[in-house]
Amino acid sequence: MTLVEYVESKRDEHLKELFEFLRIPSVSTKSEHKQDIERAAQWTADRLRAAGLKKVEIVPTAMHPLVYAESLEAAGKPTVLFYGHYDVQPADPLELWTSPAFEPTVRNGNLYARGTADDKGQVHIHLKALESITRTEGKLPVNLKVLIEGEEEVGSENLWNFVNNNKKRLEADALVVSDTAMLAPGVPSITYGLRGLNYYQVEITAAAQDLHSGVFGGAVPNPLTILCELFAKLHDKNFRVTVPGFYKDVVVPSKAERRALNRLPWKESEFRKTVGAPGLAGEKGFTIREQLWCRPTLELNGIWGGYTGEGAKTVIPAKAYAKFSTRLVPKQDPEKIAKQVEKHIRKLLPKMVKMNVEVLSTGKAWVAPYHHRYFEVAHQALEKGFGKRAVFIREGGSIPFVTQMHDTFKVPCILMGFGLPDENAHAPDEHIRLENYFGGIRAMAEFYKGLGKL
Ligand code: BES
Ligand code: MN
Ligand code: MN
Repeated sequence: MTLVEYVESKRDEHLKELFEFLRIPSVSTKSEHKQDIERAAQWTADRLRAAGLKKVEIVPTAMHPLVYAESLEAAGKPTVLFYGHYDVQPADPLELWTSPAFEPTVRNGNLYARGTADDKGQVHIHLKALESITRTEGKLPVNLKVLIEGEEEVGSENLWNFVNNNKKRLEADALVVSDTAMLAPGVPSITYGLRGLNYYQVEITAAAQDLHSGVFGGAVPNPLTILCELFAKLHDKNFRVTVPGFYKDVVVPSKAERRALNRLPWKESEFRKTVGAPGLAGEKGFTIREQLWCRPTLELNGIWGGYTGEGAKTVIPAKAYAKFSTRLVPKQDPEKIAKQVEKHIRKLLPKMVKMNVEVLSTGKAWVAPYHHRYFEVAHQALEKGFGKRAVFIREGGSIPFVTQMHDTFKVPCILMGFGLPDENAHAPDEHIRLENYFGGIRAMAEFYKGLGKL
C-alpha cells in the first residue's frame, strides 16, 4: 500500500481519534481545567509515541506542561522542529454553540468543536502524517524534534525558559508550524509573516468608593465616561492610531510585495460576508489585505465597570477598566511601543482621576523570505495534498514562538495552515473543513517524505 492509499484507508480511524483529543477541555486560562490540561499533554505524548518518536517527555513548567519528543535516526537528513499547541481558548459563551464545544460533531462537511482549527486539529494532522509514514515505511524519513505546548493561548510565558535552557537540544534546520489559516477554501497557503502583539490593561480610579449618582452626580468625575473619552481619542478620522511615534519604525512593504499580496485569489465580498457587519473600518490608504497583514493596529478588547446586572442601579462607579492590545508589524519594537502608548494615554488622562497601566505581554512581528529549498518541498507537498497550487501569504494573527525561534536560530520557518478565516477560531461554533483536515494529512505526509529525499 502506498503512503497516500494508507492515509486514505485510515480516514475514519484518524477522525475518531481526533474526537478523543477534542473531548478534552484543555482550556489554558482557567485553573479549573488543570487536570484536563494534564490529560491533553499525556494524550499528545502517547500519540507521539504511536507516530514513531521513541523519546517522548512531558516537561512540567511553572504553569502547564510542555510535550517534547525526538527522533534523530535519519543520519544525513534534515532536522525539523515541529511546534504546535494542545491548549485551547475558553468555549464561552456556551449557549451560542450549536452543538456542545467539547462534543465533536460533523455537520455539512465540517467538524465542530473547540480546538478543531486552533490548534488541536492541525497538530493531529502532523501526528497522523508522521504515524502513516512510520507504519508504511518502517521509519521516519527526517530527524524530528516536536514541541507541543499548553500555554500558547495565554502568551507562552513558560516556553521561553525551556527554549533558553535547551537551545542546543532544540537546534534544527527548519521550524514547521500548522497554526494559521488558508487564504480561502481550495487555496493551500504558506504564511511568511505574522503580526506581533502587545496586550495592556488599565484601571481608572476616581472616587474612593462607588457613589450615589443622585447625591454626587454632577459634581464628581465618572471614570467610565473618562475611559470612553480616552479611547475615542486613540484613532483619528482615517483610522490611524494617534499615539505619537506609533508608525515611525513601520516598514511599508515593497511595491512588488504589495502587488503580489493584492493579486492573491481573495474576494472582498467573502470577507464582508464573514465579518457580517453593515460596513468596514480600516486605515485609509491601504487595501484590506494590507490593513490586516502589514499595518499595526490598536484595538479595545473589553471595557467594564459600574453596574451591568439586571434592571437599573443609580451609581457612579469608583473604577473603570479596559483591556486593549496593539498588533505590531516588522521593525516596531514592542517595548518602545508599550512606552509610547502608556505615555500617550497618561497625557490624555484628565488630572482628576488616577490610572494604573499594566502591560500583560509583548511580542514582535515576524516576516521572512521564503526562498529556501524547504519551501519548494512544502509547496509541492501542498499541491499533492490539495490538487491546487499553494500561495504565499501573510497573516494578522500572532504566534510568539515563531518570532522567538526565528530570532534565536535564524532558520526557515514553514507555516502551513489548514484552518480558514471563517472557521470561528476563539469563537462559538469553531470548526474545520474535513476536506482540509484530510488534505492536510496527505500534504504533511508528502512534506516529511519530501524533506527526507533532500
Ligand atoms: N493560531 C493563533 C494565531 C493565528 C491566528 C495566526 C490566525 C494566524 C492567523 C494563535 O493560537 C493565537 O490565537 N494567538 C494569539 C496570540 C497569543 C499570544 C494569545 C493571537 O493572535 O491573538
Ligand atoms: Mn493557535
Ligand atoms: Mn488561538
